[in-house]
Amino acid sequence: MSNEVIPLAGVVGWPIKHSKSPALHGHWLKRYGLPGEYRRIALSPEEFESGLRKLAKKGFKGVNVTIPHKEAVLKLADSITDSAALIGAANTIHFHADGSIGADNTDGYGFIQNLRQSAPQWNPKTKPALVIGAGGAARAVVWALLNEGASTVRLANRTRIRAENLANHFGAKVEVVEWNDVSEAMDGAATLVNTTSLGMEGQPELRVHFDDAPLDALVTDIVYAPLITPFLAKAQARGLETVDGLGMLLHQAVPGFESWFEKKPEVDEDLRQAVLSA
Ligand code: ATR
Repeated sequence: MSNEVIPLAGVVGWPIKHSKSPALHGHWLKRYGLPGEYRRIALSPEEFESGLRKLAKKGFKGVNVTIPHKEAVLKLADSITDSAALIGAANTIHFHADGSIGADNTDGYGFIQNLRQSAPQWNPKTKPALVIGAGGAARAVVWALLNEGASTVRLANRTRIRAENLANHFGAKVEVVEWNDVSEAMDGAATLVNTTSLGMEGQPELRVHFDDAPLDALVTDIVYAPLITPFLAKAQARGLETVDGLGMLLHQAVPGFESWFEKKPEVDEDLRQAVLSA
């Protein structure tokens, strides 16, 4: 009989000190009493490929990848899911038994699951959405909203060319709107999303008003420190329903955990508190 081998997974980034993922997966392992370890792994861009292959050889089931490796990992993966290919980045890596490496992106899934769980009546289908920002997070959010059946995604970014590039990537359903017209672009939209870093602790706030937003629009932010950003606070003041961004982080971790530790974990208040206090 060989020694009992416990499942290993982790998160790879550079730097990796501030990642919340070990607290998140660690909470689930403990809660479900599962054998397994989820480690924090620092790999610089130079050592990323060799380091990742070493983890596979050591018997890791898979890893999450974060900044700055989310795009680079696509170049060395043997298989790439549609979501990762369309978003152009991966956050969840599977080391398969045959030695191959699979890359998936669960950020869009996490974004949608967070809204579904927190606002069950939310219906993005056949209505426009407004996405503010055109960075890496925006790509996952735009992909997710189109996948959920939004009629169009209006995209506003300070640097217009980045919004245009993203619109070209996703096709005619993504319409670029002027940065200065972002508040007016809320008119008729079912979903209003901030994907910029504005509103994060220590950052300036996102200057918008909600005068033109439909009263049944759902408003969310990918920033979760603070949990209620000035963007969400202004939406609440106008009586709109809001969902904070912490849930996206929690939900994006579900598919990886389920595949590595063979248990579909719950996202609930206990987990939120564990991650907030980590
Ligand atoms: P991420 O991958 O996390 O989305 P990113 O690619 O650096 O990070 O994107 C950050 C987003 O926040 C971008 O949309 C950025 O706008 P620019 O493309 O114009 O840089 C936006 N952002 C950051 N600081 C901003 C500011 N002071 N004003 C307006 N937008 C800002």
